[in-house]
Amino acid sequence: MCGIVGYIGHRNAIPIVIEGIKRLEYRGYDSSGVAVIGSENTLGLFRRQGKVIELERSLPAPSKSAGNVAIAHTRWATHGEPSERNAHPHTNCEKTLAVAHNGIIENFKALRDRLEAEGCVFASETDTEVLPHLIGFFRQKGLDLTEAVRETLQLVDGTYGIAVVDTEQPDRIVAARKGSPLILGIGDDEFFVTSDVSAIIIHTKKVIYLEDREIVTVRRDGFEISTLDNISVEGKVSIVEWDVSSIDKGPYKHFMLKEIFEQPESVANAFRGRIADSLSTARLGGLGLPPQELRRIKQIQIIACGTSWHAGLIGSYIIEDIARVPVRVEYAGEYRYRNPIIPEDTLVLVISQSGETADTLAALREARARGVRVLGLTNVVGSTIARETDGGVYIHAGAEIGVASTKAFTSQVTVLTLLAVLLGRMRHLSPLEGAEILNELKHIPDKIQTILDMNVEIRAIAASMVDDRNALYLGRGVHYPVALEGALKLKEISYIHAEGYPAAEMKHGPIALIDKEMPVVAIAMRDALYDKIVSNLQEVKARHGRLITIVDGLDDQIEALSDHTLCIPATLPTLQPLLSVIPLQLLAYHVADLRNMNVDQPRNLAKSVTVE
Ligand code: G6P
Repeated sequence: MCGIVGYIGHRNAIPIVIEGIKRLEYRGYDSSGVAVIGSENTLGLFRRQGKVIELERSLPAPSKSAGNVAIAHTRWATHGEPSERNAHPHTNCEKTLAVAHNGIIENFKALRDRLEAEGCVFASETDTEVLPHLIGFFRQKGLDLTEAVRETLQLVDGTYGIAVVDTEQPDRIVAARKGSPLILGIGDDEFFVTSDVSAIIIHTKKVIYLEDREIVTVRRDGFEISTLDNISVEGKVSIVEWDVSSIDKGPYKHFMLKEIFEQPESVANAFRGRIADSLSTARLGGLGLPPQELRRIKQIQIIACGTSWHAGLIGSYIIEDIARVPVRVEYAGEYRYRNPIIPEDTLVLVISQSGETADTLAALREARARGVRVLGLTNVVGSTIARETDGGVYIHAGAEIGVASTKAFTSQVTVLTLLAVLLGRMRHLSPLEGAEILNELKHIPDKIQTILDMNVEIRAIAASMVDDRNALYLGRGVHYPVALEGALKLKEISYIHAEGYPAAEMKHGPIALIDKEMPVVAIAMRDALYDKIVSNLQEVKARHGRLITIVDGLDDQIEALSDHTLCIPATLPTLQPLLSVIPLQLLAYHVADLRNMNVDQPRNLAKSVTVE
């Protein structure tokens, strides 16, 4: 969730690493810092609380901070409040070396006690600071930087992605990872280390994703990778497929708005090439499972966090409906610790946009340790989850920068729909039924565009919610998880407390909260449950709640009940979530924007939660 960028080459390093951490600000942003090896082999260390721009403003003139080797970090506080002294990089007592770290050192207390007993003076409250002191200790014993880092990491429990520079070996950056991503970028006579490729793709698309327990020593003229046990490793070069424009806001005010508007294309990218028209089924080659095995699946367990969990919940409705395979959806943070029962012929499916979420990764490892085949749905090629699963599907949503996930969500739902059709066609779904869903799926991008064209109307509705303190979202059936997602979007970026409920549950508690102050956003599609939800809406109106309804066809009844109504295109019930969530994303966006919130970087949240 924090970000690391390092540079070694012939150019002035600071502007490159600062630009890099600016691109990573969406991951963690309470403080930042940079360490540069100056021309006289001195250590320049600059740190600031707040945004990277504060750090940039505080930097001395280029003549006083020039150097070709630097590491920078943007922090999301875990141990120690956000402050200048807790900002990374951290140094040893002699200030000869500096370390930027993502992750958590779990045994830092014991290590710190030992170091303090030996006279070490700590300058921060962070867990990270034990690293530079330990590396410094091994350096004093005569080990070179790589060996000192290796020895240090042998003592450490927890997770890390680290980058280290040392004034006494100024020609190198040493970096290592375990449980936190770290990538080596290969340029022309220059190298980068980073926790996220989006920080460096304007410079190079040639990268090596380090594996857990690997250390890389990077010099201007080359690099060596080895394991913590000192076994030399080749390192597989990959080419990043993202387009540079995907990390630019373009004409949009925020990344989130841009990403909402990209959904006609991102949804199409999720199904492109994956529809086998002749057989009326889906083609998901990455699953790596022969048809016989797919037919044998008796149960699916979906594991995820946050918005990906909501996509999983929608997937459970669709898969159970179309394929008649029972699906359980679990929060990864619960699953990993509760000794889950995984019966024979269970398929475990983990969903993670980033492919790095710590809880999801741990749940996946737990399931694999039990000998279960685990498939993954991820967006980030080469991410840890993508590499550790037995197979899976990339959702191809492109870079998602806004912390509040939007286009990744609809792409996840699209792929889950394809999976449902694939499993269904091996069971009870007829070719005609399969074709009907897949043909309609091809129209979804245009229908999303129709909803995006209602943007002005949705902003006007958002204006009516700007001063609200609470909001309730209601949906039935497959729209219940859509309601959860709508509420999550609103609370994440506008800080208005919002809850999603299955509409029928409203009378078992939340109805107590309804009065004229309470906006109720309800999804009321003309499906089998339409009359039921209209009754729920009557109950809201009877208590003077303000009703905003999302419908797929107008009638007098809904119009009479609603303070605002949005009529979106009709589609098959299975595909409705791909449409009904769009106005909820826009509603949350506009409420937050009208409240002047920092939409792309909401307080306390991070894009990818790589700590427990
Ligand atoms: C964080 C993000 C959410 C995201 C969740 C799961 O909480 O703020 O937007 O849904 O992590 O992330 P993942 O990358 O695993 O989908």
